[in-house]
Amino acid sequence: MKFIKVDTYEKLSRSAANIIAAQVIAKPHAVLGLATGSTPIGAYTRLAEMCDAGDVDFSLTSTVNLDEYVGLSPANDQSYRYFMDKNLFSKININKDATSVPNGCAEDLDAECERYDALIADKGGIDLQLLGIGIDGHIGFNEPDEVFEKGTHVVTLDPSTIEANARFFASRDEVPRKAITMGMQAIMQAKKVLLIANGKNKEAILHAALFGPITPKVPASILQLHPDLTVIYSEV
Ligand code: F6R
Repeated sequence: MKFIKVDTYEKLSRSAANIIAAQVIAKPHAVLGLATGSTPIGAYTRLAEMCDAGDVDFSLTSTVNLDEYVGLSPANDQSYRYFMDKNLFSKININKDATSVPNGCAEDLDAECERYDALIADKGGIDLQLLGIGIDGHIGFNEPDEVFEKGTHVVTLDPSTIEANARFFASRDEVPRKAITMGMQAIMQAKKVLLIANGKNKEAILHAALFGPITPKVPASILQLHPDLTVIYSEV
């Protein structure tokens, strides 16, 4: 594992964007696994600037996002599809048809999970997977559990996740209770994994995940087994 500690969110964002841009420059047809949440916003802004400046070209790149809330349509401004369009895809020269987010409004959610895994497999897997980490140790929406779930699946969100994500909604009651998330197989089969975290409140869980026992009770701990993991952490 490569652990990079920086002292500002700005530096975290720049380093993360540099790693993602390097992947796309080295392999223009790269498949990027992407995350939502507040942590990657700075990196996405920086990638948009790099694209604008002509330093990186996303025209051949494709993306698969980690997760989506069940019941939120792409038009809903709290959906992860909306988030990705707003914070990244509308600002870079990517082909929108090459960007994928699970469909949280699918009539048959189990079929949607299977479709999503098949889509990732069809693309030949993920070259670089970007991850944030929840304060309960989740990655994607793989919540603490008795087992590591392999494939894309539907989850019931933990009360702590609902609490943490309530800041994006008008009230806690509006946070969806379920989500679709990529499972551990696609994440662990990504050729490279880049985990980013900022804030003092992430320090303890990050430490548990990276140096504690490997257990599904701390889902991110499985990343200790990944052969090419980079972690960037900033306290602020
Ligand atoms: C979002 C996702 C989540 C977040 C995590 C941290 O697509 O997969 O695992 O990365 O909840 O969220 P923030 O960055 O808001 O602290």
